[in-house]
Parts: sequence; structure tokens; C-alpha cells
Amino acid sequence: MKLTSTICAALLSFCTACTAQSGQPTTTMNNAGKSLVLFFSHAGENYNVGHIDVGNTKIVADYISEQTGADQFEIVCQKNYDMPYMKLIEIAKDEAQRGELPPYVGDIDTAPYDTIFIGGPIWWGTFPQVMFTFFGAHDLSGKTIVPFVTHEGSGLASTVSDLKRAYPQANVLPGFAIYGHEVRSGRAKVEKWLHSLGY
Ligand SMILES: Cc1cc2nc3c(=O)[nH]c(=O)nc-3n(C[C@H](O)[C@H](O)[C@H](O)COP(=O)(O)O)c2cc1C
Repeated sequence: MKLTSTICAALLSFCTACTAQSGQPTTTMNNAGKSLVLFFSHAGENYNVGHIDVGNTKIVADYISEQTGADQFEIVCQKNYDMPYMKLIEIAKDEAQRGELPPYVGDIDTAPYDTIFIGGPIWWGTFPQVMFTFFGAHDLSGKTIVPFVTHEGSGLASTVSDLKRAYPQANVLPGFAIYGHEVRSGRAKVEKWLHSLGY
């Protein structure tokens, strides 16, 4: 995808407050219980990858399910985000600034799950707002939460601290970050991370 100066400026401003990092989990886990991969992902026009039929984070979610056997729930926003990348950037910025909590489609009972992988793209320094709608509707106290993100420079940004704030009674692990444009050739990196968690 051709970089315009506007896109570069947008990405630079995402990244000013954050340092790129990849997950360095220090905690191994008891993987005996049931696991869920909870994620949001946006197909369509995206940064550095052009138009994609399957979103970057969904590809990682699928790698996780294939290796761990975890069930999946995709958080799909009721709002239509099918629009050019630069327009979505502005819509998402406005949502984040206003703290909008857009509704999502369907739901899942999280009670049977002991371990919940929670993943999404970084949008303006954290998860998309619709994921916070989900967090507000589900008490994950006592569960192990494994954060993962795809991004284009911000790394985990504030996702892990935002999850800890949403779920102070959960065991939130350090988290894993991978560039969105790397995921299609990045299965081994995801597998290595999962292996470090005991899968
Ligand atoms: C609305 C929007 C905001 C974004 N904000 C950031 C950001 O703050 N930092 C960053 O590194 N990447 C940012 N990106 C890039 C995405 O995080 C990255 O392309 C991600 O892999 C997209 O995953 P998905 O295809 O699963 O939605 C943004 C992308 C969009 C569409």
C-alpha cells in the first residue's frame, strides 16, 4: 500500500507514547482447564497490508486455537467499519476520545473458561472501543487472561494495563505483540510464544 504523508503522520502519532515490544511472558500456566480466544479483527483496507479478506488478529487467533484447542468468540461491532482506512482512523479516534462503547453482535457465556486469550489490533494506543463494551459486560475475575495484539509500531501499548484495570481480580499475563504485516508469515513466532506458556 502506498504510504501517504497523512498515513505516516497518523502512525507516528499513534506511536509517540508507546515503545514497540514483543511479548516476553515470564509466567507459565496451568493449562488444564478450558480455553477461549476472544478477539476483534478488522478485514478490509488496512495499513501496510492493503485490502485483506481476513484480519491480521484473526489469523493470530486461528493459530492460537489450532495449537491450544481453544474455542473462539469474535467480537463484531454492530457499527459498520467497512470504509477506507483513513476514514476508519478518524472514526476510531473520535470513538476513543469520547469513550464511546459501541454494541457488539451476539454474546458468549465466559463462565466455563479458565483461560481467556484476549486479542485485538491496536487502535489509537489500545484495543478498539467495542472490546471495552465486552469487558464491561463480562466479569472475568479469577480467570487467567492472556493478552495478544497486532499493531504497526505501538507494540502492546496500554492494552495490558487496560485489561488489569478492567479485571483487577484476574491473573493478567504479560502479553504478546506482533506486527500485523508479519502475521501471515509469523506462525512460528506465535507457536514459540505459546510454547513458552506451556502449550
Ligand atoms: C483505526 C485504526 C487505528 C490504528 N491505530 C494504531 C496504533 O495506535 N498503533 C499501531 O501500532 N497501529 C495502529 N493501527 C494498525 C493496526 O493495529 C494493525 O494494522 C493491526 O494489525 C490490524 O489488525 P486487524 O487486521 O486484526 O484489525 C491502527 C489501525 C486502524 C485501522
